[in-house]
Amino acid sequence: MLATWYEKQGPAKRVLKVGEMETPTAGPGEVRIRVAYSGINPSDTKRRQGFRGQKINFKRIIPHSDGAGIIDQVGRGISKSRIGEKVWIWNGQWKRPFGTCAEYISLPSRQAVKIPDKTDLLHGACIAIPVITAHRALFSDGPIKGKTVLVTGGAGAVGNYAIQLAKWGGAEQVFATVSSPSKARKAKSAGADIVINYKKNDVAQRINKATKGNGVDHIVEVAFGSNQSTISKIIKDHATIACYASDKKPEPIIDFYGFMMKNTNLRWVFMYEIPDKAFRNAIRDIETWLDSDFVYHSVDKIFPLSQTADAHIYLQSGKANGNVIISVND
Ligand SMILES: NC(=O)c1ccc[n+]([C@@H]2O[C@H](COP(=O)([O-])OP(=O)(O)OC[C@H]3O[C@@H](n4cnc5c(N)ncnc54)[C@H](OP(=O)(O)O)[C@@H]3O)[C@@H](O)[C@H]2O)c1
Repeated sequence: MLATWYEKQGPAKRVLKVGEMETPTAGPGEVRIRVAYSGINPSDTKRRQGFRGQKINFKRIIPHSDGAGIIDQVGRGISKSRIGEKVWIWNGQWKRPFGTCAEYISLPSRQAVKIPDKTDLLHGACIAIPVITAHRALFSDGPIKGKTVLVTGGAGAVGNYAIQLAKWGGAEQVFATVSSPSKARKAKSAGADIVINYKKNDVAQRINKATKGNGVDHIVEVAFGSNQSTISKIIKDHATIACYASDKKPEPIIDFYGFMMKNTNLRWVFMYEIPDKAFRNAIRDIETWLDSDFVYHSVDKIFPLSQTADAHIYLQSGKANGNVIISVND
């Protein structure tokens, strides 16, 4: 099969190779998927680069955890009725060497989830990391029905789905921050009620005005270190701040007493290792959400597999405005 791989960490053009590899077969409890699209996330490029000392514990890595395709083989213990099923893949390259950037992947059957008829394979490849992260960030501490939610980075892959899931989950009002008019359009398309350009406006002032000084119940936070002082001005008592990244300020000084005196719930989110029950809940809810009217997929760019390195460089440039996808069969 054709695949992209790397055997040492480093810059995309230097370490990513494209070539022929042996096609996997489905082992016991596994399915084999003929991959149509492979979704790239920042964690894939970070792992390839050795971000924060991450090691690759395998001789060869086929990158990318997310993807979508058709099941074409099942292993012992898996019903043959799964053959031909259209699926999205989660944790394809998490603690496993071979991810989705290849014509085939074999993995445990539960990590291949049926895609509803109305969702196409391209959009199936956008789902796993962004939507499960958004789901965890929103629902890990109970329902958000009737709550006021802020999603920072509302045009980002996770943020954009967080807006949609917040509306789907019955949030009363959803604010989103963005940095440009085109990103504002994406956040609006996802269903945000009020979109604020955080580069041009005082976010805390705008939200406090719109909420008559009440503030927000729940924040889905992409840049905790950079935004801490702003969000601390707009949280209600007992609010939850669900933080899933802090790239620019990875070691922020936390305003301990500020948060303590508001009984703030600081919730860390690391999608790959959420409890099993949380995965099951996310998968259940994603199925219902995909069938709802709250779905908007924002694919920014599609690269052929032969240009995986260019796709990684594009994602790392920070210019992507939506999901970056590899089309495996082009
Ligand atoms: N913890 C987890 O389980 C988990 C899961 C998925 C992703 N992540 C991490 O989360 C981050 C985002 O992932 P992604 O796939 O959503 O990336 P993405 O598509 O590049 O989106 C990130 C968004 O955040 C915005 N942003 C950056 N700094 C901001 C700030 N100070 N305030 C408001 N918005 C800001 C960016 O836009 P502007 O720069 O234009 O503002 C961009 O739209 C990455 O670091 C990724 O590794 C973590």
